[in-house]
Amino acid sequence: MKRVMNVLPKDLVEQCKKRMEPYNCEGFVYGRGPEKPEIMIVGEAPGETEIHNGIPFSGRAGKVLNEFFDYLDISRDDIYFTSTVRSRPYKIVPKKAGPNGEVIQKKYNRAPNMKEQIAHAPIVDYEIRHIKPKQIVTLGNIGLQRLLGKDYKISEVHGQLIQAPVRQLKNMDINEWELSEQEYSIFPTFHPASIFYNRSLLEKVYEDLDELKKILLSKK
Ligand code: URA
Repeated sequence: MKRVMNVLPKDLVEQCKKRMEPYNCEGFVYGRGPEKPEIMIVGEAPGETEIHNGIPFSGRAGKVLNEFFDYLDISRDDIYFTSTVRSRPYKIVPKKAGPNGEVIQKKYNRAPNMKEQIAHAPIVDYEIRHIKPKQIVTLGNIGLQRLLGKDYKISEVHGQLIQAPVRQLKNMDINEWELSEQEYSIFPTFHPASIFYNRSLLEKVYEDLDELKKILLSKK
């Protein structure tokens, strides 16, 4: 299988980085994986670990995701990883630290806002067109709504196979989107990080994975 580390044209990345300058976002993590993968993962945005080592889903959420892949009996090598936003959106929160209680400014992850998602949209559009995934798996509401729009809610559609065109950005200046000509096979499930805040989601995720297993088998 052909390994693709970076399919993105340089100017597309440079333009995206430029558009991100006004926002509290740092780093840029490239997508990673083969062409025509068994699965393309569409996540939310990288965190601190990912922006330091450049490897998508290599932090805490990635470890949980690895357990999902083990359950599916699929290797990370057969998966292409991308995210709605490729930089780490952060907020600065003052925090008392040290024995003298001095205040430091600490960065925390936050969900990407719509402007940030739009700034990165041409990247995800390009990847879907060129990587040609056999199956897209979106994680959480951000990835799901990036591809299918706000009418889709993860709590309602997780674990269901959706055969549909995906949203592609038509005009960035007026936030205009169009639907792809091609239909894709999209399977939404919860973001692995959501399990840290709500353990009961884990059971639902494994039910979704059972469904996904059947879908992947039927494609072999
Ligand atoms: N969450 C994402 O959506 N992407 C990463 O790379 C890590 C966490």
